[in-house]
Amino acid sequence: MNHSPLIFLGVFFALALSWFGLVFEPQLQLGNAQPTTNLVNLGQLYPQMPPGQARQGLDVYRSLGCAACHSQQIGQTGRTYDVALTDAGTNRSAVVDTLLKVKPDATAIEAQRLLEKPPATILKDVTRAAADAAVAKFEPTGAKVEVRVIPTGPDIARGWGKRRSVAEDFLFDQPVMLGSQRIGPDLADVGSRLPVANWHLLHLYNPQIVVSKSVMPPYRFLFEKRKIGREPSPDALKLAGKFAPESGCEIVPTDEARQLVAYLLGLRADTVIFETPMTVATANVSTNAPAATNAPAAPPTNSVAK
Ligand code: HEC
Repeated sequence: MNHSPLIFLGVFFALALSWFGLVFEPQLQLGNAQPTTNLVNLGQLYPQMPPGQARQGLDVYRSLGCAACHSQQIGQTGRTYDVALTDAGTNRSAVVDTLLKVKPDATAIEAQRLLEKPPATILKDVTRAAADAAVAKFEPTGAKVEVRVIPTGPDIARGWGKRRSVAEDFLFDQPVMLGSQRIGPDLADVGSRLPVANWHLLHLYNPQIVVSKSVMPPYRFLFEKRKIGREPSPDALKLAGKFAPESGCEIVPTDEARQLVAYLLGLRADTVIFETPMTVATANVSTNAPAATNAPAAPPTNSVAK
């Protein structure tokens, strides 16, 4: 008896089945998947490995015990919401009417003025429900209105950061210098607060040069006092008055000082990620220009809570 057709069909179905199971079905499930990221702005890579100098600076920071007085963790207790008008549309009278309904204490003239220069904040510091209700009211008018998520808390009020710190912020810190005492300000976002290297060099040499009543200790040993050669060094600190060294000498930062400053400048916690929803304030750009953008229509927020 000739079994070959049966054997052929058996082999064929066995192979076909595994092809469906292992190739076809996964393709249906995952074929269209896009790379996922926690970032709201997909063009961004975060966190990034800091440059070598900044990584060496972490060791300097640790060896000098800066963590005894400085924490690196921004706390957040909640969030609040603003409502902003980004585009008044063409039906101005309807938008003004709605504005007066949403903001009963505003006058018609104030409402008109708000329309003139978008983006304009219509409501400040409201609940999510109130913000969403306001946005819904504007929908029929054709105006573009968005909810902005604003993190709140004592640390944020002090200007120590824009959002709370999350584990991701510390991915490349080895070891993590969280600190537990706050004799000085929190440094988790110091790089965006104080972005000028020279400020930090002066501050380390003698904090009182830049903060007159500072109680932070000076770190003079991070600097070298040298006799000025034929020409002064371009790196020498510009010191005047009682902070200046004796004439004929100059103060030059050592490698450790530069590394430490590179590290401080790299301490930033201002990237928007899903764990910490916030809306990045957009610059007050003119929206009269035609919308030459391929940005998604959604407001730049990663707010999950609806
Ligand atoms: C004895 C406690 C103490 C130590 C140790 C200390 N600091 Fe400070 N630091 C302070 C205080 C207090 C301030 C606030 C006054 C000022 O700005 O100088 C401050 C301010 C700062 C600021 C400015 C922050 C801001 O937002 O204004 C930076 C940057 C800084 N310290 C870095 C360092 C580094 C780096 C070290 C380690 C080399 C260090 N500190 C060690 C107490 C300390």
